Amino acid sequence: MSIVLDPWGHIAIENYERLLVEFGIRPIDEVLNSYIINHKYFTRRVIFGHRDFNQWLNAYQSGGKVAVLTGLMPSGDPHLGTAMVYEELRFFQEKGVFVKMAIADAEAYAVRREDRDSVVKKGLDFIAHALAWGINPDNAEFYYQTSMDSSYYRLIQLFSRKVSEAEMKAIYGDLSPAKIMAALTQAADILHLQLDEYGGFKYVLVPVGVDQDPHLRLTRDLADRFENELALKRPASIYHKLLRGLDGGKMSKSRPEYAIHLTDPPDLAEKKLMNALTGGRATAEEQRRLGGEPWKCIVFELYTYHLASDENELREVYNDCVSGRVLCGQCKRRAAEKLRALLVEHQKRYYDFRNNVEKYVEKPSF
Ligand code: TRP
Ligand code: SF4
Repeated sequence: MSIVLDPWGHIAIENYERLLVEFGIRPIDEVLNSYIINHKYFTRRVIFGHRDFNQWLNAYQSGGKVAVLTGLMPSGDPHLGTAMVYEELRFFQEKGVFVKMAIADAEAYAVRREDRDSVVKKGLDFIAHALAWGINPDNAEFYYQTSMDSSYYRLIQLFSRKVSEAEMKAIYGDLSPAKIMAALTQAADILHLQLDEYGGFKYVLVPVGVDQDPHLRLTRDLADRFENELALKRPASIYHKLLRGLDGGKMSKSRPEYAIHLTDPPDLAEKKLMNALTGGRATAEEQRRLGGEPWKCIVFELYTYHLASDENELREVYNDCVSGRVLCGQCKRRAAEKLRALLVEHQKRYYDFRNNVEKYVEKPSF
């Protein structure tokens, strides 16, 4: 049976290995020998796959022009899954790379049918969170899709000529005019940085959750088809696993009680974490005897994605769990303390940036 990744659906991915086989995403392991790839998401295989990342790294390491671009849809409230994207941007920026973040307001309006004012306001929240997470505005740019200029919009029009409905159906499944517009707009997000109007060719890397890969497949094809006309080159991409919801299902904007939001009061966040699905056994006696199953555990996932800063610490949590030395109650309390500290720090910065975030982006004019 073949699988369709639906970037607009609610997928919970069981088996990441299969995605590699099915879609030709390459395993990240093959590029991990590069010394600059020293972020925990790589060592822990949270970022598990890529397309052409080795080539992007070569360009970066040999001093070529490179950039990182990603985007977020301003609907719902930013949560720990959203923060993974911020963390990736922060990492590449720390490596000296210019980063650009799209606020996908056209997509949220048309596909999610969000109210225009709320999308614009949410966009500011998403940017304030990015800044609070540590993205330095001096070497970053944020933009709303709908405040881009005509060369970006012309791309969308040109793209529409060289892709067929059948191809898009094969990539996305069900289509609608809104989805077609959003997909071509996302291709323009990814490719516009190569236009003369935006400084000419640079090799663009797109860090995203793997649910976005369909957009990258489309964008790569479009780049090939416009190689002669517009001198576009394919982007590179890296894919992270999707942080699961606290009950083990998909972390989704429609199930806020199963996500930890970046603005959750720390008490509430702690309570949510204490109720999360674990890999614990039915009784304490059994857990001491058999050990827990961290690979099933959302709390362990939170340690892996956000709460454990170094490898030793993560290994200790793992060993304490599988040996049965530490039981879930204690392990969760330790995680809850770390989560509290993270949120308290983040929220202080967030509320500061929220007050003057309009400095950092041009709001759409209508
Ligand atoms: N579709 C993305 C989402 O749902 C948002 C997005 C818009 C994006 N433009 C992009 C992501 C460009 C990566 C690159 O969150
Ligand atoms: Fe999860 Fe910790 Fe329990 Fe292990 S001990 S299952 S890591 S909560």
